[in-house]
Amino acid sequence: MRNAHEKFLKEILIDADTLQARVADLGEQISTDYADAEDLILVCILKGGVMFLTDLARHITVPHEMDFMAVSSYGRGARQTTGDVRIDMDLSVSVSGKHVLIVEDIIDSGYTLSRVIEMLKTRGPVDIRICTLLDKSSRRKVDIKVDYVGFTIEDKFVFGYGLDLDERFRNLPYIGVVDLDKLGIAPK
Ligand code: IMP
Ligand code: MG
Repeated sequence: MRNAHEKFLKEILIDADTLQARVADLGEQISTDYADAEDLILVCILKGGVMFLTDLARHITVPHEMDFMAVSSYGRGARQTTGDVRIDMDLSVSVSGKHVLIVEDIIDSGYTLSRVIEMLKTRGPVDIRICTLLDKSSRRKVDIKVDYVGFTIEDKFVFGYGLDLDERFRNLPYIGVVDLDKLGIAPK
C-alpha cells in the first residue's frame, strides 16, 4: 500500500521544506562554530538520527568523520522511558582527542543522551556537544545541555524523517503527529 502511513497521520507537524531549510541553517551554524576544529566527529544515534545526519552533514563544510552508535532504553512501554540505557552497537573509531557532535533525532526525557554523554566522556574527547532535530523540552527528566536544536515541539508522539512508528515510516520526508486513536495500541 503506497500511503500506508496516512491512516496513522493526524497532521503534518513540520513539512519537508521547513525541515530542509532548518537543517541547512544548523549545518551552516555548525560549520561556523567548528571552523577551527582539528578533528570533528559526528556521532549519529541510530536509528532515528540517520536521516537528519545525512542531510545535516551535507551542509557542514568543515572536514569531519562520521560514526554510529545504536542505543535502546529499557522500560519503554507506552512511551515511558527509564534511565536504563543499553548500547546495542558501539562506535567503530576512537573519539579521543576529537570534538564530538552527537546527532540525535529527538530528546524526550533526556535519559538516553545523558547516558551516552557519560559514556563518551570517559574516552577522552576534546569536548562533546549535542545537536538534536527535535526537542520535547517539557518532558525533560534530566538536565542536559543541548547545543543545537532544530525545533522545540510539544508533547506529541511524532514520526517520520528518521523517527519510527513501530519501526516503520522512518522514510517519510516530514515530521507527522501520530493519531493515537487510530493506532489503537500505544507506540513503542
Ligand atoms: P529519551 O531518552 O526519553 O530522551 O528518549 C529519546 C528517544 O526516545 C529518542 O531517541 C527516540 O528514539 C524516542 N522517542 C521519543 N519521543 C519520540 C516520538 O515522539 N516519536 C518517536 N520516537 C520518540
Ligand atoms: Mg533515538
